[in-house]
Amino acid sequence: MLTGRVLGADCKPIAGALLDFWQTDGSGNYDNIGYKLRGHQFADKNGAFSLQTVVPGEYPGRTPHLHVRVRGSSGPLLTTQLYFSGHPKNEPDFLFDERLVMKYVASEFRFDFVL
Ligand SMILES: [Fe+2]
Repeated sequence: MLTGRVLGADCKPIAGALLDFWQTDGSGNYDNIGYKLRGHQFADKNGAFSLQTVVPGEYPGRTPHLHVRVRGSSGPLLTTQLYFSGHPKNEPDFLFDERLVMKYVASEFRFDFVL
């Protein structure tokens, strides 16, 4: 489970923000035909979201990651990726960014987006 909030630069929640996620399955394969493991949702009135999914696998050159696009009702579109702490493939991955590592708290991954 991934949970978090979408916040503005003023740290106020962005109600109804759009979150579009896509990822590989546990073996590192994208479904480019049926598009399983791709979908979107909207943050609630507190800017909160939760995503129940599988842990993505790695594929050549890439450490496990989730893709996400986040957008408020207006303003910028954030397109980014989220990573898992301590994975041995993080450092060799040229796209890996420590600032995009999800926190693992109480058996859930957590990440807050700031637009
Ligand atoms: Fe990817």
